[in-house]
Amino acid sequence: MVIGIWIIAFYLLGTVAGKEVCYHRLGCFTDDPPWSGVPGRLLTGLPDSPEHMNISFTLYTRETGNNSQVISAINSSTIQNSHFSSRRKTSFIIHGFGSTGKKGWVVEMCLLLLEVENINCIAVDWHEGAKGTYVSAVNNIRVIGAEVAYFIKTLQKIFRYSPREIHLIGHSLGAHTAGEAGRRIQGIRRITGLDPAGPYFEGTPPEVRLDPSDADFVDVIHSNAAHFPAIGLGMYNTTGHLDFYPNGGTVMPGCTDFIPEMKQSDFEVIIADATIVGGCHHSRSHEFYFESILYPTGYLGYPCETYKSFESGDCFPCSQEGCPMMGHYADRFPAKLKRVNQKYFLNTAADPPFATWRQKVFIKLSGVKKMRGDINLVFHDTEGNTKEYEIASGVLSQDQVYTKYLDVEINPQNTKKIEFLWNKTIFTLLWARLGAETVNITHGEDGHSLIPRCITRSIV
Ligand SMILES: *[C@@H]1O[C@H](CO)[C@@H](O)[C@H](O)[C@H]1NC(C)=O
Ligand SMILES: *[C@@H]1O[C@H](CO)[C@@H](O)[C@H](O)[C@H]1NC(C)=O
Ligand SMILES: *[C@@H]1O[C@H](CO)[C@@H](O)[C@H](O)[C@H]1NC(C)=O
Ligand SMILES: *[C@@H]1O[C@H](CO)[C@@H](O)[C@H](O)[C@H]1NC(C)=O
Ligand SMILES: *[C@@H]1O[C@H](CO)[C@@H](O)[C@H](O)[C@H]1NC(C)=O
Ligand SMILES: *[C@@H]1O[C@H](CO)[C@@H](O)[C@H](O)[C@H]1NC(C)=O
Repeated sequence: MVIGIWIIAFYLLGTVAGKEVCYHRLGCFTDDPPWSGVPGRLLTGLPDSPEHMNISFTLYTRETGNNSQVISAINSSTIQNSHFSSRRKTSFIIHGFGSTGKKGWVVEMCLLLLEVENINCIAVDWHEGAKGTYVSAVNNIRVIGAEVAYFIKTLQKIFRYSPREIHLIGHSLGAHTAGEAGRRIQGIRRITGLDPAGPYFEGTPPEVRLDPSDADFVDVIHSNAAHFPAIGLGMYNTTGHLDFYPNGGTVMPGCTDFIPEMKQSDFEVIIADATIVGGCHHSRSHEFYFESILYPTGYLGYPCETYKSFESGDCFPCSQEGCPMMGHYADRFPAKLKRVNQKYFLNTAADPPFATWRQKVFIKLSGVKKMRGDINLVFHDTEGNTKEYEIASGVLSQDQVYTKYLDVEINPQNTKKIEFLWNKTIFTLLWARLGAETVNITHGEDGHSLIPRCITRSIV
């Protein structure tokens, strides 16, 4: 597929304040500050009407499977006559700009969630409001957020359903939509922001964007964070109780999209139109969430100041408190509400299921004279799959210590054996006969070290 890139620059001029629009059931929306005319958000405009956007709520349960039911808070008998059960928890999935809730990842997410949990899963569709310009979609999410809040209020009214049973999951503009719903309804159990949109939200007051006050617990995955000078579609700043920055949060392995660099003076110039720059990176956030449902321990986030510091091993292994799991099981972290503005880092693989388990490998060579060679580690799982990682290459010398952090694509629990590979000509006598080396592997999760019972194999 050829991806055309349209870049529309909105040179942000002053704003005419004081306009307002009111919609039946939902109330009035103004473009007074902070909705426009504040730093980072010099746009003007008001949201379209709910009718114009044709928002819909589609229910998936274990009873419906793919035969979902469209339910509506306007005619609440559609909810009462559906498979919605007030005895279950409810997740709402909200898509972003230029997307849809009728098919694709939103529906797949509901179906996968139902495999692990007996919930009501509601796919929120607002594609009519999300398909115009980016700026119009930014304005429209205020009405979508109000509609989600109205839906929840209706559940409260007809079932005395508690917001503590509700989890809102939103991608991109959908993340801020969830924030807007949470601002209107106190006590929502959880909001998950999947790469919350950056343009017109980064640096704005909390009421405009997703923030930790929008739910009892807010977790965020940043996958295309605009981190100057790289531009991105996501926010760089923390915006929840737990903010995860996989692979540093801006550029995702396996994605080849072009991420333009911008000059400081252009920073306020927003890109957007039908086709999205950096869409692969931006979408990884919901792909990671999806896979985390199946691979909970493969997404541990390490608390660290910067990605660079994480990469160099400063924040390894997890402390006594443990590390939170990015994605679906983030709410299992006991210390999840202890702080805000804490960043959590991890590396993922380039391909699904993306999960990795970080391990520190420590090797001390002895009895080796200075010579050139390679040492690799091969992990074997119980099903016969292998993954190979380089530990050292180039000049290897006696008593040198090699420390390497590996993000291994095989769960330690399924690791059958670990094998060393080295250049035969160099090591055969030294390694195999003397056995005087130190080798140990530390697991990130609990910091426990082990000396692997190594099976060694030489490169012929
Ligand atoms: C609006 O949504 C409903 C329910 O999803 C659908 O049946 C209808 O065709 C939609 N109308 C338009 C104009 O898209
Ligand atoms: C729903 O449809 C998808 C693809 O259309 C299919 O892969 C999946 O098995 C279906 N799930 C159920 C529960 O029927
Ligand atoms: C409300 O929904 C029910 C189905 O649950 C339908 O029979 C009824 O006609 C709807 N009422 C209105 C006013 O649309
Ligand atoms: C990022 O968040 C911190 C802490 O809330 C705040 O002080 C800072 O101004 C924010 N930066 C931007 C660009 O929003
Ligand atoms: C060691 O083996 C690797 C893999 O076969 C090879 O690429 C490398 O050049 C070898 N190094 C030496 C010094 O022979
Ligand atoms: C493993 O290596 C670490 C250094 O990374 C060291 O502190 C630890 O004592 C070693 N454990 C064993 C069992 O050798």
